[in-house]
Amino acid sequence: MENEYRLEMKGISKSFGGVKALTDVDLCVKKGEVHALIGENGAGKSTLMKILSGAYQKDAGEIRIDGEQVKIEVPKDAKDLGVAVIYQEFMLAPDLTVAENIFIDRLSQGRLINWKQLNKNAEEELVKLGFGDIKPTTPVRNLSVAYQQVVEICKCLKRNAKILVLDEPTAVLTFAEIEKLFQIIERLKEQGTSIIYISHRLEEIFRLSQHITVLKDGTFVDTVATDTIDKQKLVNMMVGRDMTQMFPKRSARIKDVVLEVKNLSAGSMVKNVSFQVSAGEVLGFSGLVGSGRTETMRAIFGIDRKEKGEIIYFGEHIDFKDPKEAIQHGFGLLPEDRKQQGLLLEQSIRVNATLTILNKITNKFGVINHAKEKKYVQELLKKISTKYGSTEDNANSLSGGNQQKIALAKWIAADCKCVVFDEPTRGVDVGAKTEIYRIINQLAEKGVAVIMISSEMNEVIGMCDRVIIMRQGEITGELKQHELAEQNLIKYAMGVE
Ligand SMILES: Nc1ncnc2c1ncn2[C@@H]1O[C@H](COP(=O)(O)OP(=O)(O)OP(=O)(O)O)[C@@H](O)[C@H]1O
Ligand SMILES: [Mg+2]
Repeated sequence: MENEYRLEMKGISKSFGGVKALTDVDLCVKKGEVHALIGENGAGKSTLMKILSGAYQKDAGEIRIDGEQVKIEVPKDAKDLGVAVIYQEFMLAPDLTVAENIFIDRLSQGRLINWKQLNKNAEEELVKLGFGDIKPTTPVRNLSVAYQQVVEICKCLKRNAKILVLDEPTAVLTFAEIEKLFQIIERLKEQGTSIIYISHRLEEIFRLSQHITVLKDGTFVDTVATDTIDKQKLVNMMVGRDMTQMFPKRSARIKDVVLEVKNLSAGSMVKNVSFQVSAGEVLGFSGLVGSGRTETMRAIFGIDRKEKGEIIYFGEHIDFKDPKEAIQHGFGLLPEDRKQQGLLLEQSIRVNATLTILNKITNKFGVINHAKEKKYVQELLKKISTKYGSTEDNANSLSGGNQQKIALAKWIAADCKCVVFDEPTRGVDVGAKTEIYRIINQLAEKGVAVIMISSEMNEVIGMCDRVIIMRQGEITGELKQHELAEQNLIKYAMGVE
């Protein structure tokens, strides 16, 4: 009888120094199914997939593909076996063009390249995926993160993968793009590709998957058929306790206006933007990827140059010349792209978490009190349930979600009067999401004016007092709390009536 499983990973274990990332984990995936792999931050999901892709070596266990035991020692082994992985962190070559990235295998074979043909083929592939507006000759570094991901998927599809792993693919996408991605996934499934899908968004898991495997603290909890389980049970398997309230209540009083922006224009992405935010308020910014939300905040924060407009902060006209000056005025920004802007990955967790509060842990001569610093960092990280070995480990040894928590931690620590959180819960597990919401609430209750850019509509609806929607660099709408509903947000974000 033919083997019903495309992939069987059995008894997989893996340690990094003293950290046991995986202990005796099983994952069996059928042909032509979407199999969800879920678990809290640091549960071992990405590590298991890196073993499948040959990026890491397993310490123990075996892997079978179509019933045959296989050796995966280097990435090429996995590629030859038809395994393609789209990582949480992209693997694209930023200086190469879109077309060069998609056909990177062809380029590395050393044959003569017909560039015209290459670009034409790339364009055809992108059109097939529904992303014809991505130009094949654009260097990848100039694309938005969302578009970079489309290129990455396109690249994997060109390899005719039997097994496609998507590690949190939608974390960087907005609803319109997610729909397109889901269509691609459905199509691949129909063609018999087995898809392993990692996500912290349970709605997606229920919509796409046939089976779900749950990991907890590097161990296997269970594999279940999706139609036999509900959300509550699944969360319980993952977290080990019931979670009833996703969005905690806030008792903040909205007071005086802290920041007022009038007719701000900067570059091509910020056109005549005006808004205000008050102490104790959580103001949401919604819209599609590339709608200008991030760019607006960057211009205010002094990262990008303003062309026109006024910024009034606590009643005074101000023009932050750089982020340092903004921070000195108690204005903070958690950037959306942690990899490039939020974290010093080669530095320790301790250094990262205390970047913004050095004045609190230094004596009057500017010397850091290390005992104080360590205690401070440990308490802070415990508050947001961060999983790490030692505060001296490099930030890049953390799982994706835990890196995110460190980036957030430094703004919680800083004494800000106004903070912008750009996609604060991207890649964070359900339990920690609620913790982050609680922290945002505490900031608002303390009288901080909070601006939250978010592409997750339920988060915007659950958390914000008021929401501004942007589209193509302009504000297209503003919704008060009682008007917040998905169709209203979509209407303004897409520009449809
Ligand atoms: N290169 C590494 N060096 C040291 N420790 C590592 C390394 N890679 C992963 N780990 C550790 O292994 C554990 C599992 O991490 P992994 O990235 O697999 O988690 P994850 O389930 O993907 O989490 P997330 O949802 O946050 O992405 C974590 O404790 C992490 O710190
Ligand atoms: Mg991960």
